[in-house]
Amino acid sequence: MNDVAITVKNLVFNFGRLRAVDDLSLEISAGTSFGLLGPNGSGKTTLIRLMVGLLKPASGNISCLGKPPTPSNARNVGYMPQLPALYAELTVQQNIDFFARIYGLRDKKKRTQRVDEVIKLVDLYSKRKTQVMKLSGGMKQRVSLGCAIIHQPPLIFLDEPTVGLDPELRARFWDYFESLTRSGSTIIVSSHTMDDAAHCQKLAFLRGGRVIALGSPAELRAATGTAEATMEDAFLYYIKRGEVKENAA
Ligand SMILES: Nc1ncnc2c1ncn2[C@@H]1O[C@H](COP(=O)(O)OP(=O)(O)OP(=O)(O)O)[C@@H](O)[C@H]1O
Ligand SMILES: [Mg+2]
Repeated sequence: MNDVAITVKNLVFNFGRLRAVDDLSLEISAGTSFGLLGPNGSGKTTLIRLMVGLLKPASGNISCLGKPPTPSNARNVGYMPQLPALYAELTVQQNIDFFARIYGLRDKKKRTQRVDEVIKLVDLYSKRKTQVMKLSGGMKQRVSLGCAIIHQPPLIFLDEPTVGLDPELRARFWDYFESLTRSGSTIIVSSHTMDDAAHCQKLAFLRGGRVIALGSPAELRAATGTAEATMEDAFLYYIKRGEVKENAA
């Protein structure tokens, strides 16, 4: 599928005097998994919040499924924030049901079915009646993922969804993300682990609010010129290359 899901053009966002997103442009194809990779403070969360419509850019344009990101687009969008935004006193089931209602799943029978389906998917069926405050960090992440995908949105933003997950769960999350893209959804995932990077079909390496490299994991590794280069080597290669350019300028 070659349709474009998201176009970002010359995007700028400032927190006061700090430029968090700096003249950033990207295109994300529909039905793919796109990774935003970069160190702490490189602008991943800010960029995601701009694409979801929670922040307004100082300048530049964003088009998500052909429209500017606005709350009226919310039903097409799933968003898993970096810090789970859940109701601690409500149970797993009540939290997911709450998001299902917000996203307009009105029919009670269908909603209950879908909530059950998602609870099983994130493997929390035995905890469905437990208050979220009593769950472990990784379990809260799973509830948060459930809330983001409850309405089967075509566009899903996941801000560091695998942080704090054990290796088995991380692999399960990725199996699930891959099944979502196979069924046509577009997934934007932020991470700083190169393990996540290797799972994405396309990646943008971010640094200082800018895209310093763009390509598939294989393309980015190949650019280092070393056959056995890892994703980590590729990232360091682009950082060094950027520093050489900055010093030369
Ligand atoms: N609410 C805020 N007010 C002021 N500055 C902010 C705010 N949120 C983020 N920043 C700054 O904007 C820059 C980008 O932050 P952002 O959270 O987008 O980075 P990130 O790549 O998501 O980092 P991390 O990997 O730690 O999640 C950083 O310099 C950060 O300090
Ligand atoms: Mg972040």
